[in-house]
Amino acid sequence: MKKIKKIKSGFIGRQIFAAKTLFKILPDLLPTKFKGPEQLIKKILGDNIQPFIDEVSSLKGPALKAAQMLTIYGEYYLPKEVNEILKQIQANSFYLDWHSLKKDIPEAILLKFEIDESPMAAASIGQVHKAKNKLTGEIVAIKIQYPKIDKAIDIDLNILKRLLSLLRILPGNLNLSKIFEEIKNKLIDEMNYKEEAKNQHEYKLAAKDLTGVYVPQVFLKDCTSKILVQEYIHGVLLSSEKVLERDQDYRNKIGIKIFQLFFHEIYVMGLVQSDAHAGNYLVIEKEVGEATVVLVDFGACVHYSKKTLRPYLELIESVFNNDKIKYIKTFAKIEKESQGQYQIDRDLLFDYFKLCVSPLHSSDFDWGQTSLPDQVYQLGISIFKNSKIDNPPYQYIFIDRKIAGVFSLLKMLRARFDVLAVVSPYFIKD
Ligand SMILES: Nc1ncnc2c1ncn2[C@@H]1O[C@H](COP(=O)(O)OP(=O)(O)O)[C@@H](O)[C@H]1O
Ligand SMILES: [Mg+2]
Repeated sequence: MKKIKKIKSGFIGRQIFAAKTLFKILPDLLPTKFKGPEQLIKKILGDNIQPFIDEVSSLKGPALKAAQMLTIYGEYYLPKEVNEILKQIQANSFYLDWHSLKKDIPEAILLKFEIDESPMAAASIGQVHKAKNKLTGEIVAIKIQYPKIDKAIDIDLNILKRLLSLLRILPGNLNLSKIFEEIKNKLIDEMNYKEEAKNQHEYKLAAKDLTGVYVPQVFLKDCTSKILVQEYIHGVLLSSEKVLERDQDYRNKIGIKIFQLFFHEIYVMGLVQSDAHAGNYLVIEKEVGEATVVLVDFGACVHYSKKTLRPYLELIESVFNNDKIKYIKTFAKIEKESQGQYQIDRDLLFDYFKLCVSPLHSSDFDWGQTSLPDQVYQLGISIFKNSKIDNPPYQYIFIDRKIAGVFSLLKMLRARFDVLAVVSPYFIKD
C-alpha cells in the first residue's frame, strides 16, 4: 500500500483527471472514427497502464466504487485484457496518512480506543484500522471515512454519465437519468456509516438462523455517520490464495454458503447486501476444514417488502417450472406495478429467463467451467436490441447486481455443487 497525504475530493482535481482522459480519445469519438467502446477503453488505458490505475485508485470515492462495479459486469461484458486491468484498480493500493485522517475522528473515539496508525485495509470511501478498547481490551475494527469524500458524489457521477454516453456502451433507449438518480441515492446512503451500522445490526439478526454464515457484531453506540466500530474478525479474504488453493470440497462448501445466503436474502430476510464482491467476504475456520463465511460491508443494503419481492420470485419460479401462462401473468403484474410499457418479445424473453435460471435445475453445476454468462449475454443483446422498455422495474436492479456478483464469486472459487438441493427448500409453498 502506498501512502497519500490528501484525497482530491474537490471539483478541480477530479475534473482535470476526467478532462485528461477524455482528451486522449476525443478524435475517436467522431461518428466516422468510432470503432466501439472496447477500442476507446484500450486507448484510454494506453501502453503503460500503471499511471491510469494509480490515478483512479487514489481518487477514491464514487469513481473507485464505479470501477469496482464495472469489474463485476466486466467479467462477462468486457474483453479479458481490459477487465484484468480494471481489477487492478484496487481500493487497497492507497491509504490516507494517519495525521490527515485523525483530524476528523471524534475525541470520544480517540479516548476510548487505542487505534493502530497504519490501516489493515483501505477501501473506497474510508479505511479500516484495528483498535483496542482501552477499558475492556477488546479488539475492534474501526472504519473511518475519508474527510469530505461525500462532496465527490455529484462530480464523479456527472463525469461518469458523460463518459458513458460518449463511449456509447449502454443501449440508447435506457433512461440513464433515472438510473443515475437511484445510484446517487444509494451512494448518499452508503456514505452514512450510522445507517450502515443499523443495516449490519439488522442483517445479523435476520441471518442468525443460517449456519456457516457470520456477521460481525457492530457497536452502534460508538458509530457516527463517519465512524463504524465493529467486532474484529481474524479471517482471510475470500479472494486470497489461502482460500482459492484449498481442495475442491472446501471451496464447494464456501460456494454453497454464498449461494444459499443469497436465496435466504430474497426469500426469507427481505434484505439484500447488494455489493457482492470478493473484498466483502472473509473466511474463518473455527474447526479444521469447516469454513464459516463472514460477510462485511453493509453500505449497499436494500430492504424489500414481501409485496415487492413476491412478483420477482414468482417470475423466477414460473420460468423454472416452465409454466408460461403463469410467467405471462406475472410479467404483466410487474409491468403494471412499475407503470411501465414493455415492448418486448415475451416468448424470446421466456427463453432468455430459462437460460438464466438453468443452473437451478442442476444437481452438479460447475461454476468455474460454465459458458452460461456468454450465452446469456449473446441472447440478451439480440432480444433487448429490438425492444423498448419504459420504466423497467428499477427496484430489482440491485438484485440483478447481486446475482452478477455472486456468479463471479462462485466462478472465482471454481465451486461445483448440487444447486437444486440448495434452492428447492426456499421455493414458495402455497
Ligand atoms: N470486522 C472486520 N474484521 C476484519 N476485517 C474487516 C472487518 N470489516 C472490514 N474488514 C476489512 O476491511 C476491508 C474494507 O471494509 P469494507 O467494510 O468492505 O469497506 P468499504 O465499504 O469501503 O468497501 C474489508 O475488505 C476487510 O478486509
Ligand atoms: Mg467493501
